[in-house]
Amino acid sequence: MVSIGVLGYGVVGSGVVDLLQKNSERLRQKLGVDLNVLKVLVRNLDKYNDAGSLLTIKEEEVIHEKVDIVIEVMGGIHPAYDYVKKALKMKKHVITANKDLVAAHGEELMALALENQVCFAYEASVGGGIPIIRPMTDSLAANEISQITAILNGTTNFILTKMYKEDMDYGHALREAQQLGFAEANPESDVMGYDAARKLSILSTLAYDQKIDWKDIDVEGITEIDAQDIKYAKKLGCVIKLLAISRKNEKGVFAAVRPVMVSEKGPFGQIDNEFNGIRFEGDAIGEMMFIGKGAGKLPTASAVVGDIIHIVQNYKGKHGKVTAQGQRPSLKWEHPFQWMLRIKTNDRYKVMGSISELFAINNFMFDDAQDKGEVICVVEIENEQSGYEKLQELQSKGYIQGIKKMMKLEEMVS
Ligand code: HSE
Repeated sequence: MVSIGVLGYGVVGSGVVDLLQKNSERLRQKLGVDLNVLKVLVRNLDKYNDAGSLLTIKEEEVIHEKVDIVIEVMGGIHPAYDYVKKALKMKKHVITANKDLVAAHGEELMALALENQVCFAYEASVGGGIPIIRPMTDSLAANEISQITAILNGTTNFILTKMYKEDMDYGHALREAQQLGFAEANPESDVMGYDAARKLSILSTLAYDQKIDWKDIDVEGITEIDAQDIKYAKKLGCVIKLLAISRKNEKGVFAAVRPVMVSEKGPFGQIDNEFNGIRFEGDAIGEMMFIGKGAGKLPTASAVVGDIIHIVQNYKGKHGKVTAQGQRPSLKWEHPFQWMLRIKTNDRYKVMGSISELFAINNFMFDDAQDKGEVICVVEIENEQSGYEKLQELQSKGYIQGIKKMMKLEEMVS
């Protein structure tokens, strides 16, 4: 018998307990042992009346001699960090779904696991149910990876899909995502792009063999996107997605999370609701894409239980490489792209003249922009630095009251 202790009984914790119960017979036959949940840590016993004697408020009953595997699904850094360290020091295998923890302390915890000859597994920390960590550390490890492009946050993808397809307003869509159990306890993490940045830092660190700290990643969330942006994106045959992008070349690493317009018919344009999509470019495999449910109770539980199966079947003291050396990513996109510009002005003709002088124009959009005192256009940009310099020059003209911009990537078209 393999004994399991679970720290946390929220969306993911209850999903893990349910899934282990639901598929217990299948798992027993597959593994040749019973997987037995001994204890589950909760903050407040009064909140639950269904799980009976499994629940405890004492962490020492979960991180206990009798337990073989500790599953941390509490979220947040504290006290999760201390509990995980304690479990590893007691030579317990640890599984976590906690991207905040892995992004902040992953290397230290992997090193501690190595020291104690146990496993620290975190498949559920990125991409929900999509198997992505193990492919990167094992199956794809022969490749030099040069780029990652991904939708890594289910909540924001759900919100953007509802705004695009159902004209739902932002607040309503966010509430629905919360009710469905996709959002973080503090959804600011989702909508401001921090959750996606943490996941991008985990993937990029693995991909490029160097620590990419999420705090060094250029992050922009979806809170500024309005119905008008969506309308203009539609006119361009595009969808707005919160993309997490990193690229590695001889100069270093670029990493950013930002809303981007992508072709409606391209691979990312078709990933809706809480689904995530992760595309890699490896020198041997070429392009490769993973798509699946990136948030939610059972998809995330599937990844956690997958880690349990991995430990029971395979764990013989082997570990992935621990990457502690860091390099700060570049914050500026160095390749050609387009920007959709929305420029507030009371002199549209002068603005159009200045834009034509400064940029190669792809498209001016007229529609009702005139009534809104805006000039809308899509401009070609050679690289982000030069784009910002031109924007600065434009901004210095007296007749401009504000500029909103959004990246459009042609390369996303399949
Ligand atoms: N809040 C996260 C998301 C949960 O929406 O993607 C899965 O990590």
